[in-house]
Amino acid sequence: MWRRIRLPFASGVEVEFSDRRRALEQFEELAVRGTRLPIVMFGPEGCGKSSLLKQGAEILRDQGFDVIYIDPLHRDFMAYTDVGDIVRRLVEATGEAVGVAQLKLATLAIDLARELLGRWRKRRIAVLVDEVFQAVGVDLAEVYVKGLLNLIEHPPGGYENIVVVVATSEGLTRSRIGRHSWSIQRPIWNMSREGFEELYEELYRVTGEGKPSLDRLWALTGGNPRMLSQLYQASWDEEEVITHLARGRRLGDFISSLNDMEVRWLEEALEDPDTLVKARERRQLKEKLVELNLIVDGIEGREDWYWVDTPPPSRDPELGIGYYVAWQTPIHREAVRRTLLGQHGG
Ligand SMILES: Nc1ncnc2c1ncn2[C@@H]1O[C@H](COP(=O)(O)OP(=O)(O)OP(=O)(O)O)[C@@H](O)[C@H]1O
Ligand SMILES: [Mg+2]
Repeated sequence: MWRRIRLPFASGVEVEFSDRRRALEQFEELAVRGTRLPIVMFGPEGCGKSSLLKQGAEILRDQGFDVIYIDPLHRDFMAYTDVGDIVRRLVEATGEAVGVAQLKLATLAIDLARELLGRWRKRRIAVLVDEVFQAVGVDLAEVYVKGLLNLIEHPPGGYENIVVVVATSEGLTRSRIGRHSWSIQRPIWNMSREGFEELYEELYRVTGEGKPSLDRLWALTGGNPRMLSQLYQASWDEEEVITHLARGRRLGDFISSLNDMEVRWLEEALEDPDTLVKARERRQLKEKLVELNLIVDGIEGREDWYWVDTPPPSRDPELGIGYYVAWQTPIHREAVRRTLLGQHGG
C-alpha cells in the first residue's frame, strides 16, 4: 500500500494527505488502463490538484511505474526511476535562470519520458505535469499537449503502459486546447464535506488549537483546503482573507470597469452563477470572471466518470455552485459582493 504524503499547510504546520479516495482509486485504475489521451485536470485554485498529482505519483510508483512529476512554475520536480541520469538533468534544469528553467523543465518532461521509452520496452511510464501552461505560455499550450499525445501515440520504443496527466487552474488555456481532440479535460472540485472534515480533524490533531466550527469553515471555504490554510494563517479572521482576495485581484478596478447592465448581471450571478450562461450577452462577463479566477466554467455534467474524485452537487446555492458555472469558493463570491456593495450602494 502506498504511503500518504505529507503536505505543507502553513508555516510550521504539515498535514497528512486527506481523503480524495475516489481520485486515488482513479489513479489505480489509470495504472491498469493507462491514458489514451493526456488528461487535463482543471479546477478551482487551491482545491488540491498539485497535492493529488504528488499523491498519485506515489500510487503509480507502487504499481511499478517510472514517474516524472514536474512543476515548472515553481521549479519543482520528483522523479521515481532507477535511471540516475534523469534526476541529474532535472536538477541541472532547476538551476537555470528564471524563465529558462521553467521552459527547460517543461521540455524535459517530454524528452526524458521519450528517452525512458526508447531505452526499454515493457516499461510503465507516468508523466505528471503541473501548471505547465503558464510556463510555456498560452500560445504554446496546444503544441505542448500535442507533444504529450505523441508520447502516447508514437513512442520511440514500445511500452507496457503510459499515464499522462496535466493539472491547470487556468481557464483561458483550457478553451484553447479544447479546440483539438488531443486531450481530455476533466474537472476536479474542492474537497467533499467528508474529506474536508477529515482535514479539519487532522489540523486539530497537528496543532491542537481551537478553531471555528466545521459548519462555519465549510460555509466559507466550500471545502477548498488552501482557503482553510489562509484562514488559519489569518488566525481565523475571515474579513482579512476576504479583503486580501479583493485587493489582490483588484476587484475594485474590475467592477468600476463594468457598465450598469453588467453590474446587474454580476449581482444576479452572486445569487445564481448559472445566469451567466443563460443569456448570450453575458458571456463576456463570464469570460472575464473565468480569467480573474473567480469562477470555473465548463463543469456541466455530474457523471462519476467525468470528474476527478467525487463530483460536487448539481447545484448548491449556499456555496455558489451552479450546474454550468460555479464560484471557486464562497470567499471568492463574498469578495465580489463586498466590492460591489462598496461601489454601488449598500
Ligand atoms: N488532500 C489534501 N489533504 C490535505 N491537505 C491538502 C489536500 N489537498 C490540498 N491540501 C492543502 O491545500 C494546499 C493547496 O493545495 P494544492 O497546492 O494542491 O492546490 P492546487 O489546486 O494545486 O492549487 P493551484 O491551483 O494554486 O495550483 C496544500 O498546500 C495543502 O496544504
Ligand atoms: Mg497547483
